[in-house]
Amino acid sequence: MIEFKNVSKTYPNGTKGLKNINLKIEKGEFIVIVGLSGAGKSTFLRSINRLHEITEGEIVVDGKSITAARGGELLKMRRDIGMIFQNFNLVKRSSVLRNVLSGRVAYHGTLRMLLGMFPKEDKDLAFQALNRVNMLEKAYSRADELSGGQQQRVSIARVLAQKAKLILADEPVASLDPLTTEQVMNDLKHINEQDGITTIVNLHYIDLARKYATRIIGLRAGEVVFDGPVEEATDERFADIYGRQLEKMN
Ligand SMILES: Nc1ncnc2c1ncn2[C@@H]1O[C@H](COP(=O)(O)OP(=O)(O)OP(=O)(O)O)[C@@H](O)[C@H]1O
Ligand SMILES: [Mg+2]
Repeated sequence: MIEFKNVSKTYPNGTKGLKNINLKIEKGEFIVIVGLSGAGKSTFLRSINRLHEITEGEIVVDGKSITAARGGELLKMRRDIGMIFQNFNLVKRSSVLRNVLSGRVAYHGTLRMLLGMFPKEDKDLAFQALNRVNMLEKAYSRADELSGGQQQRVSIARVLAQKAKLILADEPVASLDPLTTEQVMNDLKHINEQDGITTIVNLHYIDLARKYATRIIGLRAGEVVFDGPVEEATDERFADIYGRQLEKMN
């Protein structure tokens, strides 16, 4: 579903974010990217939907080069890619429902959305999405009245309403407590398993990575230093790669 071909990213100030990455990700995988701060996890994830532009190589998504895509074609490719952020990126003063409906914007254009003209099918989709993350009863609450974990579940509902085929989550649980962390990770995992949505998550915690991933990719200074199934991602292996610096949960 995703292929990195000789991908490098050099920031304008000369920092190398990614160095010659070559890998393939199959449909339905649940991938966790781990690495120390500054390893290139966010750069990797954001390269896929072109929130960051790569400087060498090519990224192919669903058989098409997103690197080469322009204009309407790029927008259409992005419509299939849902993004989840550490800080939730909700419109705080809007209702939960409006936030989830904003996942439909790419299908209709902004004007209709500004006027609040959502077709009934979209509202049905939004309610279904909220139901799946157990947030139905909060549909008419303001987003900023919710806890962090609830806000993150709303942002998951937003990518569900978007009907994304690929979910990219950049440290989705970094600002949540351990219990809420498990709820949010479980939601992501269920959606991945039930809908077959390819999911790529950046995490700091190696234990959490092992618990949820089907495959772990380890980055260090912009390079892939580990790529394999969870069974191979042992403490010993990671201590070799990172020293004992990768965070454990307890
Ligand atoms: N806009 C930028 N301009 C210059 N350098 C940048 C920029 N963004 C990131 N970098 C550098 O690129 C490298 C990779 O950064 P990135 O944000 O991808 O790391 P990360 O693994 O996500 O780290 P963290 O765990 O702290 O989020 C780092 O050396 C960082 O300083
Ligand atoms: Mg990051």
